[in-house]
Amino acid sequence: MRLAWMTDLHLNFVTPADRRHFMEAARDQADAFAISGDIAESHDIVDTLAEIEAAWQKPVYFVLGNHDFYRGSIRTTRRAVTEEAATSAFLTYLTAAGVVELSSQTALVGHDGWADARLGDYQASDVILNDYLLIEELYKWDEGFELDKPALRQVLHELGDAAARHFERVIEEAAARYTSVIAVTHVPPFKQAAWYDGRQSDDNYLPHFACKAVGDAMRRVMEANPQSQLLVLCGHTHGRGEVQIAENLRVVTGGAEYTRPEIQEIISVE
Ligand SMILES: [Fe+2]
Ligand SMILES: [Fe+2]
Repeated sequence: MRLAWMTDLHLNFVTPADRRHFMEAARDQADAFAISGDIAESHDIVDTLAEIEAAWQKPVYFVLGNHDFYRGSIRTTRRAVTEEAATSAFLTYLTAAGVVELSSQTALVGHDGWADARLGDYQASDVILNDYLLIEELYKWDEGFELDKPALRQVLHELGDAAARHFERVIEEAAARYTSVIAVTHVPPFKQAAWYDGRQSDDNYLPHFACKAVGDAMRRVMEANPQSQLLVLCGHTHGRGEVQIAENLRVVTGGAEYTRPEIQEIISVE
């Protein structure tokens, strides 16, 4: 089967005509789709997923990215999307799912992930993502004026840790039964995978562009399962790149341009 991987579609920035054109062009190129987050925003993510499902009528496995929570909260958006997927014939929200079998040899797992402020230099970083203004749980400002970095760091750590616990469990289960595991996540789980403009993100951006907790979990589980191969598909930094972290652990980061949604890769699953 052919699995088309996409990332950072940001369909809320795409005109209705261009969205239709993109979806029609993509439909026949694959038997199933994987999307690694940043699909729309909190207020239109459920409608956008319904639009994707109606257009493709094929399995769509996805996670959410930070933008998918903009102008809303992580908790309520995840809940709404989980409910939408639960009643849908084609949508699978991997963050709320377990191990998905794609073939007798290949399994798919996933989680949103989150940049967990543990790589690079969080304390010195002057990067203020819109996340910290537009997502309820991350709005940590002292009297509305200064970013409360310790409070924000605490939330970022918790989000990264929750993602890592999920991955530890599902990759362990998948690697024990399948020789090939594909993991979909929004945020690059290693600093070497946080590609930006053809190179690795610097210490100023890394706290916001990579998830150390998830990377550590992936490395641990794959070290214990040398018989299995893990391919990680991620996005978030919008810079295309690939890196081999270990003999059985490869990470591909998708390139993306606002208003130009595209297929990153068609993966043939055996
Ligand atoms: Fe994005
Ligand atoms: Fe993102």
